[in-house]
Amino acid sequence: MVSLVRPAELDDASAIARVHVATWRSAYHGLLPDDFLASLSETHYEERWRRTLGDSSARIYVAENVDGVVGFASGGPERAGESGYAGELYAIYVLEDAQARGHGRRLVQAVVGGLREVGLEDMIVWVLRDNTAARGFYERLGGVYVRSQPITIGSAELEEVSYGWKSLSDVRY
Ligand SMILES: CC(C)(COP(=O)(O)OP(=O)(O)OC[C@H]1O[C@@H](n2cnc3c(N)ncnc32)[C@H](O)[C@@H]1OP(=O)(O)O)[C@@H](O)C(=O)NCCC(=O)NCCS
Repeated sequence: MVSLVRPAELDDASAIARVHVATWRSAYHGLLPDDFLASLSETHYEERWRRTLGDSSARIYVAENVDGVVGFASGGPERAGESGYAGELYAIYVLEDAQARGHGRRLVQAVVGGLREVGLEDMIVWVLRDNTAARGFYERLGGVYVRSQPITIGSAELEEVSYGWKSLSDVRY
């Protein structure tokens, strides 16, 4: 199957927003409140992504197949002052129907390349504690559990955990 990962462009904002909202709804069903997931708006996220694509220091990539954009990922400098980590995988989402076909691995590869380009040599990622599928993915890629902390999303009080790679060469594809 045709499959490509490439840097995102401004014109990808609507496709990224579509994947963002659809994947949040499928991946976070049962983890986040139904009314919160129902309230997510593609138009709102399209505007946010347009701004991010226009002026952020983040490296953003999309995965495409014959149907168009089916996934995206972003990364850049670590955002919260976590000691020991300078780089961060901010987000990675692949449409449910396109999962388990290697898009996630290729997106991580692209983000790792982007982090290296800006001189970052390690990577941390935060994931909901109960998102066992994504945790399995990060563990498969060699991520090492770092710590957990509370997070509020909408009205939900949850726990998130982090995985780290002390060196980008530790990412196991
Ligand atoms: C997590 C996610 C990005 C992974 O992307 P993907 O395209 O489905 O994963 P890939 O096909 O590239 O898998 C790469 C490797 O990870 C493994 N893997 C994927 N999911 C896994 C899981 N739940 N448990 C263990 N290993 C897993 C795959 O088996 C593969 O390894 P293999 O080649 O040795 O079999 C994707 O499933 C997704 O978007 N999920 C929903 C959104 C989400 O939770 N995002 C993360 C938020 S922090």
